[in-house]
Amino acid sequence: MNLRTATADDLGAIMALERASFPTDAWSETLMAAELSSPHGRYVVDVEAGRLAGYGGVRAVQGAADADIQTIAIAEHARGTGRGRALLHALLAAARERGAREVFLEVRADNPVAESLYVSEGFTEIARRPRYYQPDDVDAVVMRLDLVGWAVAQRPADSVASEAGACS
Ligand SMILES: CC(C)(COP(=O)(O)OP(=O)(O)OC[C@H]1O[C@@H](n2cnc3c(N)ncnc32)[C@H](O)[C@@H]1OP(=O)(O)O)[C@@H](O)C(=O)NCCC(=O)NCCS
Repeated sequence: MNLRTATADDLGAIMALERASFPTDAWSETLMAAELSSPHGRYVVDVEAGRLAGYGGVRAVQGAADADIQTIAIAEHARGTGRGRALLHALLAAARERGAREVFLEVRADNPVAESLYVSEGFTEIARRPRYYQPDDVDAVVMRLDLVGWAVAQRPADSVASEAGACS
């Protein structure tokens, strides 16, 4: 996989994957363009052999304590090979770099694949928003991640051990 920050030039490919991934509630091109150009977010694309394999975005205002995973999608042919997790890691790392301490997201209650990815990274359910996704009439599961704890868990064991040694 080949991750890089998205640019306005990626908009067309992102919208094609957005519409394929979220057939009933895809974002508009106008909204996606605004997301890509916002200084308060970071969008990352996964490009393989010149073809978009995935994209995702996080809203993380510099210095704010909380951030939000806005969206994440992997092309159908490329799913199940670790790309979704890698993209999520890149978004979480970007949020941490901007100073976020916790991350929130909403996931459809009928999307166990995405929910299981989030749970496996440490997200926990904090609320449900009934009938949030329309026109499908599906609840949203609201999830939260302790980003500071997540970032510590990503560090190699030896760097954590040497820090612990430095403090004692
Ligand atoms: C959700 C999505 C981004 C996951 O990306 P992916 O590249 O397929 O996922 P990965 O290969 O990185 O797998 C990460 C975890 O997701 C879960 N997962 C992936 N495929 C799964 C499947 N077929 N069944 C159940 N869980 C699955 C597992 O927890 C997996 O961890 P594991 O490999 O340790 O078991 C992708 O399926 C997707 O784009 N779906 C459509 C759009 C979408 O629903 N986006 C999320 C909106 S909130």
